[in-house]
Amino acid sequence: MRIAVLASEGAPYCKSGGLGDVMEALPAALSRIDGNEVVLILPYYKKIKENPAYEVEQVAQFDVDLGWRRQYAGVLKLKNRKDNVQVYFIDSLYYFGGRDGAIYGHLDDGERFAFFSKACLIGLAVMNFIPDVIQCNDWQTAPVPVLLKAQFGACFGNTRCMFTIHNIEYQGWASADFFDDVLALPEEYRLRLDMSGAVNVMKGAIEACDMVTTVSESYAKELMYPYYAHGLDSVIAGNCGKLTGITNGIDTGTFNPETDPALPAHYNAQSIAVGKAACKAALQKEVGLPVREDVPVLVMVTRLAGHKGLDLLCHIGYRLMQEDCQLVILGTGEAHYENFFRELARKFPKKAAAKITFDLGLASRIYAGGDIYLMPSKSEPCGLSQMNAMRYGTVPVVHATGGLRDTVPPCDKEGKGGLGFTFQSYNADDFYGALQNALRLYHNDPDAFRALQVTDMQQDFSWNVPAGRYMELFRKMLGH
Ligand code: GLC
Repeated sequence: MRIAVLASEGAPYCKSGGLGDVMEALPAALSRIDGNEVVLILPYYKKIKENPAYEVEQVAQFDVDLGWRRQYAGVLKLKNRKDNVQVYFIDSLYYFGGRDGAIYGHLDDGERFAFFSKACLIGLAVMNFIPDVIQCNDWQTAPVPVLLKAQFGACFGNTRCMFTIHNIEYQGWASADFFDDVLALPEEYRLRLDMSGAVNVMKGAIEACDMVTTVSESYAKELMYPYYAHGLDSVIAGNCGKLTGITNGIDTGTFNPETDPALPAHYNAQSIAVGKAACKAALQKEVGLPVREDVPVLVMVTRLAGHKGLDLLCHIGYRLMQEDCQLVILGTGEAHYENFFRELARKFPKKAAAKITFDLGLASRIYAGGDIYLMPSKSEPCGLSQMNAMRYGTVPVVHATGGLRDTVPPCDKEGKGGLGFTFQSYNADDFYGALQNALRLYHNDPDAFRALQVTDMQQDFSWNVPAGRYMELFRKMLGH
């Protein structure tokens, strides 16, 4: 099957969050399935352009019309990718290559990604790579299914389009004039993209695509409710016949405590006792906490954003400092959370460490050196770091929502029957209760705690199963 995957980020080239990780692993997993030809198209951001590791050659160039604008686009082929995925970058000095700063957050993001979406389709047509399936992701590529129907039918008449929602919170809202000024679509599409008198490109994608997926089964159900759907619940409900949840995997090649080059010691489920203890001691030393084997190390690697449940952790932060435990947090984000954790670490230097930075190596050492992983997210479409943590033998404590509910079945107080500790309703006391169950097991029954760690390490979180499920849906869309 010929598959084109379109996204605004993909590791290792460019990544701001989980989407980047998925775009590293999913295309690769699809390319390993019977003879699939997979291409991945990403924007050519300045950061990629300036990285000498990525050798490219130009294979196409053309102009892209967006309303009254006409902008140059180049297609650059990555020359030195090691697997079977062919990576292309859309080159535009104006929208990507000449911009400083982050991937997102520019005033004209809507226009930038409308350009990208259209350039991907023109690029595929110019290169004569006519895919059976286009898989596009989140609001940045949400114009794709609409453009396919409205303007590219002649070329892609047999191509089917899947739109995947990684997070419904970001929908690509724009003022009403964006429809004429930038998208310049036929009149009949105006209402399909309209929401409350404004343009919502994600709504357009949900309506226009052949299938919608999201990144866990529970999140697919949650999207029917206003609490989770950020205004799109009725649009989702109206299209629920074409919605499926497929829980993400993780890149088990990269996230492997036996080989991870960032770790001071390596281990697997059999050698966890020695290897993890060495990683724990090294982590305590690295972040400046007392090196003690008998104290539980609670860890969190996260964007410091509201929906990650940080308000719950802030609420119980001082209570937690009365317990015999250590807390290590890594991440950047909203200033009030950054300040809270800096302050906590300053007041309790023997108990809390806050690393307000982005550091992939330290992230690995935290997954390996921790005992208990905290992920109290208010909502979580899938979440990847709870799986990374389990792969490194760190027991998760999570809010039972979205992908956290699907990947962390709850265990009882003896640590049996599940993979971690969960709480049902989003409040700080319930979170604290679940965390205390984990701490009790750690202190009172070390053998049971170790058995739980080993069970967590033995789970298959690879992309093999989810990639197979994507293939099933691709075949269904194509009527095979
Ligand atoms: C988004 C979601 C996260 C998910 C990731 C990859 O970042 O917030 O839950 O794991 O996308 O699908």
